[in-house]
Amino acid sequence: MKRILTGLQPTGIITLGNYIGAIKQMVKYQDMYESYLFIADLHSITIPQDPNELSKNIKSLLALYLACGIDPKKNKIFIQSENLYHANISWLLECNTYYGELSRMTQFKDKSRKNANFTSGLLTYPVLMASDILIYDVDYVPVGIDQKQHVELARDIAIRFNKKFGETFKIPEPLISTEGTKIMDLVDPTKKMSKSSDNPKGVIRILDEPEVIRKKIMSATTDSDTIIKFDPINKPGISNLINIYASLSNKKIDEVEKLFVNKKYGELKKEVADLVITELTKIQSRYYELIKSKELDQILDDGIKFTSEIAKKKYELMKNKMGLHR
Ligand code: TYM
Repeated sequence: MKRILTGLQPTGIITLGNYIGAIKQMVKYQDMYESYLFIADLHSITIPQDPNELSKNIKSLLALYLACGIDPKKNKIFIQSENLYHANISWLLECNTYYGELSRMTQFKDKSRKNANFTSGLLTYPVLMASDILIYDVDYVPVGIDQKQHVELARDIAIRFNKKFGETFKIPEPLISTEGTKIMDLVDPTKKMSKSSDNPKGVIRILDEPEVIRKKIMSATTDSDTIIKFDPINKPGISNLINIYASLSNKKIDEVEKLFVNKKYGELKKEVADLVITELTKIQSRYYELIKSKELDQILDDGIKFTSEIAKKKYELMKNKMGLHR
């Protein structure tokens, strides 16, 4: 059976973009692949976090995974910082990665531009991500398109390491679904919907109340035209709504276009809002039950036990190949 892995950062409540781009994909794939899903808490501290908030968000993200339909029997679920080998292996990989490669990453360029006082962790972030992926010899990495460049770097690092030290890693591939690869901000549809957005009106969070969701979608930015057509360059707002509709209804973009031929923008918005609210209220009611459950710790304990054994073997293999032994 082919293997997949992905992770999400526990920085605040996840967005509709995270859900469509990553979690919904994992739910779909869990019956087809051997699945690994983790909480990328080490990645989240590349930007300052409030420690109390962070620890709450870690548990909350796990409950959200399950509420969204992730089955703990079909996924190895764990917290990245509890598996000590991820950061150790990251160091071995860092010493085989060039500064030039890291400084060219789009996400690094964007984030470091916003805050001149960035940490070195922000620069080396993609190497830790390569470590997360390469440890488990995965075939595919389901991510939104914003993470594609990082997965490609993981491939480059793996190929280089294999060449230098002999066969050590499987070469992974990004797995990006056509619908919903990038959900955009509702206020500024030229930007991706992001947890760190300055304007909360543009971002739907998985735990937003139904009225809040409806309000955000009904006031989403569109254009002065009247035709409902998928054209991300000239009609980014409408295209984003079509994309959300397609992803949640499991329809193709052109099917959605046909459904809304001769309809008004207001009708599209109303139907998108109905769809999002139906999907998210189901998740929310499961979440509020799960967050109190004792089952969460057991899932994490099982996950860390299983994944630590695999990661330890990979670490020993790498150390031996690199001459780090007595
Ligand atoms: P993160 O936490 O920023 O995002 C988690 C996942 O959500 C996807 N995503 C989106 N998809 C569609 N539209 C959007 N607006 C949107 N916003 C976010 C992201 O593409 C991602 O798949 N570095 C990663 C976490 C990570 C990881 C890994 C992922 C760490 N190690 C190893 C895969 C494999 C991150 O920060 O994702």
